Amino acid sequence: SNKDTWKFIFPILINFTMSIGAYFLAIRLIPKIKNMFIKANLYGIDMNKKSGDKVPEALGVVTGCLFLITLFLFIPIPFTNYIFSDINFPHSEFMEFLAALLSICCMLLLGFADDVLDLRWRHKLLLPTIASLPLLMVYYINFNSTLIIVPKPLRPWFGFSVDLWIFYYLYMGMLAVFCTNAINILAGINGLEVGQSLVISMSILLFNIIELSGDLWKAHQFSLYFMLPYISTSLGLLKFNWYPAQVFVGDTFCYLSGMTFAVVGIIGHFSKTTLLFFIPQIINFLYSVPQLFHFIPCPRHRLPKYNKVTDKLEISNTVFNKKDIGFIGKLIIWIFRKLYIIKWQEDKEGVISCNNFTLINFVLIKIGPMKESSLTVTLLLIQVVSSLLAFIIRYPLASIFYDV
Ligand code: UD1
Ligand code: MG
Repeated sequence: SNKDTWKFIFPILINFTMSIGAYFLAIRLIPKIKNMFIKANLYGIDMNKKSGDKVPEALGVVTGCLFLITLFLFIPIPFTNYIFSDINFPHSEFMEFLAALLSICCMLLLGFADDVLDLRWRHKLLLPTIASLPLLMVYYINFNSTLIIVPKPLRPWFGFSVDLWIFYYLYMGMLAVFCTNAINILAGINGLEVGQSLVISMSILLFNIIELSGDLWKAHQFSLYFMLPYISTSLGLLKFNWYPAQVFVGDTFCYLSGMTFAVVGIIGHFSKTTLLFFIPQIINFLYSVPQLFHFIPCPRHRLPKYNKVTDKLEISNTVFNKKDIGFIGKLIIWIFRKLYIIKWQEDKEGVISCNNFTLINFVLIKIGPMKESSLTVTLLLIQVVSSLLAFIIRYPLASIFYDV
């Protein structure tokens, strides 16, 4: 009926309006307070520029706060009808909302701590795990459904569904760890961190809009509430992080983004689809594994190397002696060379110079040196094409594996 449609549209409209407001606040606030960050010693040097100026770091904390404030102010809106009539208050939905906010808020704090303190690798794995605990607790209380539907081709062996029990919680925790770190390690050129996050969030938004007409519309409406202010505040950040960057987003932004995507995926029951939007991040992660786990030496920064003369970015290398890597490292190099996915050089003394294993370097290997802004655009195009692929997998192809 008309009244129900209105009840359904009203909170989305309010959320949309508030998000637009948050965008304008963001683009006014960032230039005003970026110098405070430099004063507080929160800055980085843009390694791909000639100037060597100080660029304020961790500005993601500003847009992250605006994103959270927008949602805090929005909390009562979807529940107005219940507040005044006092019957059948949907406590579980309310709890989900609060837990989602708690997890994202916690991640913002931990991400900022990482920017200020420059934490070690193992902490980067621990932080998102901790931040996802409130969410997993609510999941346990509200659904505790750990059943997964088995893809059709595997049903003769496993049956229609399998109860993953505690492993499902492990999976959800790992999803948070993956989403946060995967964005953070596909980074190092202006606009890439925010750009990729925006492509992912807009893909999730599109998916939510498509699914609003389905049976699970409530979960997608919930996700929409988070995506709209996330997109608007991040667009504000992109305006200043785009080449040539006036601000850096920091690990704060990467963690906050990853956590937001994990949260809506988990609460909205579409975590597999969320992962589908991470194809470039998954590839970058798999390619990075040898360096992340130190089978191959990993320098502090793996971003491409700037050539002052041509003003273009080139492949960055990791240099080591052949004697210093173990059996697994040698095996990995052998396989990667056979697959033609690395650029490799060895001199007479056995000193090896090999590209850092990142998707950014891989693109540079295949296409050749590029201007920084073109490189960002190329990588974002890859992200967009991957999202198209994700939709093809999710819709036409999924019917091969599931009854959709
Ligand atoms: C991750 C990557 C690292 C990459 C770095 C770049 C892994 C394991 N880690 O580390 O290889 O070098 O991100 O963000 O893959 N910077 C620029 N231009 C940019 C963005 C960043 O020069 O457009 C530099 C600045 O000096 C900035 C610093 O990178 O201060 C930020 O690095 P940080 O986010 O602290 O690095 P990690 O996330 O630890
Ligand atoms: Mg980072």
